[in-house]
Amino acid sequence: MFLFTFHFLCPKQLRLPAPPRWSPDFPGCGRPGRVLPRLLAQRGLGPPWCFFPRGYRSYRAENLTATESGFSARLHRVAAAFLPGAVDELRLELALETPARLRFTLRDAARPRYEVPLATPRVRGRAPSTLYGLQLSQDPFGLVVCRQRGGRVLLNTTVAPLFFTDQFLQISTSLPSHFISGLGEHLTPLFLDTAWTRVTLWNRDMAPAPHINLYGSHPFYLVMEDDGSAHGVFLLNSNAMGESRGAPGVGLALSSSSASSPGTCASPDVLLQPSPALTWRTTGGILDFYIFLGPDPKSVVRQYLDVVGFPFMPPYWGLGFHLCRWGYSSTDITRQVVANMTAARFPLDVQWNDLDYADAKRDFTFNKKGFRDYPEMVREFHDRGLRYIMIVDAGISSSGPPGTYKPYDEGLKRGVFIRNATGQPLIGKVWPGPTSFPDFTNPETHEWWHDMVKDFHDQVPFDGMWLDMNEPSNFVEGSQDGCPNNNLEHPPYVPGVFGGRLQAGTICASSQQYLSSHYNLHSLYGLTEAIASHNALLRVRGKRPFIISRSTFAGHGRYAGHWTGDVGSDWEQLYYSIPEVLLFNLFGVPLVGADICGFLGNTSEELCVRWTQLGAFYPFMRNHNDHGTRPQEPFAFSPPAQAAMRNALRLRYSLLPFLYTLFHRAHSAGQTVARPLFLEFPTDPNTWAVDRQLLWGGGLLITPVLEPGQTKVSGYFPAGTWYSLAGDSTIHSKGQWILLPAPLDTINVHVRAGHILPLQEPAFSTAQSRGKGMALVVALSLDGFARGELFWDDGESWETFERGDYTEILFLASNDAVLSQLLRASAHLDGVLLEAVTVLGVTSPPRRVLANGAIVSDFSYRSDTQVLSVPVSLPMWEQFVISWS
Ligand code: GLC
Repeated sequence: MFLFTFHFLCPKQLRLPAPPRWSPDFPGCGRPGRVLPRLLAQRGLGPPWCFFPRGYRSYRAENLTATESGFSARLHRVAAAFLPGAVDELRLELALETPARLRFTLRDAARPRYEVPLATPRVRGRAPSTLYGLQLSQDPFGLVVCRQRGGRVLLNTTVAPLFFTDQFLQISTSLPSHFISGLGEHLTPLFLDTAWTRVTLWNRDMAPAPHINLYGSHPFYLVMEDDGSAHGVFLLNSNAMGESRGAPGVGLALSSSSASSPGTCASPDVLLQPSPALTWRTTGGILDFYIFLGPDPKSVVRQYLDVVGFPFMPPYWGLGFHLCRWGYSSTDITRQVVANMTAARFPLDVQWNDLDYADAKRDFTFNKKGFRDYPEMVREFHDRGLRYIMIVDAGISSSGPPGTYKPYDEGLKRGVFIRNATGQPLIGKVWPGPTSFPDFTNPETHEWWHDMVKDFHDQVPFDGMWLDMNEPSNFVEGSQDGCPNNNLEHPPYVPGVFGGRLQAGTICASSQQYLSSHYNLHSLYGLTEAIASHNALLRVRGKRPFIISRSTFAGHGRYAGHWTGDVGSDWEQLYYSIPEVLLFNLFGVPLVGADICGFLGNTSEELCVRWTQLGAFYPFMRNHNDHGTRPQEPFAFSPPAQAAMRNALRLRYSLLPFLYTLFHRAHSAGQTVARPLFLEFPTDPNTWAVDRQLLWGGGLLITPVLEPGQTKVSGYFPAGTWYSLAGDSTIHSKGQWILLPAPLDTINVHVRAGHILPLQEPAFSTAQSRGKGMALVVALSLDGFARGELFWDDGESWETFERGDYTEILFLASNDAVLSQLLRASAHLDGVLLEAVTVLGVTSPPRRVLANGAIVSDFSYRSDTQVLSVPVSLPMWEQFVISWS
């Protein structure tokens, strides 16, 4: 509302500020004095400048001084801020943390404010040389970050005034291109639309729909620059962010030069705005930015993960197939589901139960009607080599008489619940009825949570946890008694959150947590619960924890994975699941997937087949269904549909050694698992917006059918050679769209020339498949080269990589031979044989094939497909050479 007090002054030129003050060792942007005046001259031509009064200056920078890590300056407020709680003096700190990473913070110089309790790297000293250059505008204050080389401006906050008040902070930047990805969680394509797209971050229980803040907050974006370089920006701030509804201008919004927006600067000169822009608006905390210079997009992701943490290593079984639904109302029914899967010969690793198992939907209980023999059921599953996971909701039932429900009684005693304004546990309403909400920012809550997890695990030996309703979700607004009327519930600026109020669908913003107000900590609820659960599971089971959570925040991937919530059973949601999975990989949460066949509403057979085919390539593969809808387990369909699903599942199981190795690379080196094409082919702009296909690592391209009634699918193939995984066709692409046959029983999967994939014979669970024979698919480049790797350990012990308890093998092909090199050996591969090597792209028929010097007489070669198949029986744990001539 305050924005209406501004005058709209487009397009008059604003007074140019005094020339910037230079520090001699400031890593500048090209020749001093060039870039900044040019940028400043562009101001006033359109949004966001035109929202402000003529000549509006908010802060002036003074006392720029060199510090141990970079530079600092004082910012002095020189104009009214139009909002209560204006901060008069700010401290700017610029830390040149690494050659590719710059951090800058703006804090209240006089008083400490809330800061996100996420441990980020502590850096001493200053990077001696940097990829970035800096310029500072003194009056009004503004910062420009550019590439030292070439001088391209990546961040330019001079495009609009800085605001820093108690509950409203705003900073804007121009963007060097329209190709911006990130800023989850929303139902969006991979790259965002810069034409006045509103982006709101505030974790919310909401069935995914466009333009709405969803379950998680990831204030990180990646921009592709014209030449294929990339940079990223992370705003470490957990307060509600986004645009105020109905207010002119952009919130955390992207503006484009060519678009006009109702209620914004009405001048036609808006059209002349030369570059897209982004404005961050947040309702509290400090401004704490990290800028990652790449220069390639993979490096940007790794540099981001250097700050928020590399992903956890999932247990091997976690990569198998998971089956769930709401409505398996007894152990008998759950057992029957498993039996049906076995009878229909479908692989299954993890059986799940939804709320049905619990007594009156309360955590850490099981009902003695349908689930009387619950512990026995879980033990039986274990005996069959299966694992078991059940749902755990965030809200703890609070309405039972004292002495009847230990989690609440103990929690009360130990003071673990979030408190309302009067200091009592805040009571909301979730599935079990009235509930209180554990405060996972309190160390005592972690202890209590561990004790509850252990108590329950002592009865029911579950293997992982499914954390739901942890935004946290609340079926009454705020609490059963409403919320107080104060400035945290009704801040001067309310972002465009769904429901219009911060308390909508959740608990009161002014409720109190151990570390701060819920207003500040809300979007961290899922992350803090995931950390507590991770630690509890590790202590209780002594093995690698497996956790899937609905609510997430930056850094979540260190502790848990994510499923994309209550997606509808429709084709549009099938498509959107690809950008969601890819984005979460950019956010460092590679263990992610959507509910296969859709959750809400009835699926159809065709949709479910296509979804299972795509789902076989979600890093986390689970079929989950709402209660009361049509059954959608693989065995619920016609024989041809079942056959297609079986193929997809077997394909996934055969690729698990490759997938596991990718997870190892994510865990140990900050890589992505499911990967957007632009990460591998950044200099081919055709790949940038591709989000109907995905890669696994750098070497496997998946082109699913995402529309009904199709038997062909069009996919983009970056320049190079691509072999179908089955070895029956080869594409030599110049970088082009190719129409592929895709009957209902087929998903197109191509191997990129130059890659070697380790495979294993599929089985009905990973417990079985891990002992089966292995195979290599060797996809030769045109000059006969390929490489790949395998990471292998016992699949579930804690920190095998960190302790060195693993096997790592490098595979190399060149000069008509493929060999393995044991980079590290352990006993875990003992007994596993290499049984087949398939070499794709062997241009002339070999006459002789040798394995470790011995003649292989039963090799085969097809000259039409140029595929050489070599059956062998070699110990995987020893080095080998296979050659052909
Ligand atoms: C939420 C979850 C969904 C679950 C249901 C019942 O809607 O997102 O997956 O089945 O609650 O627990």
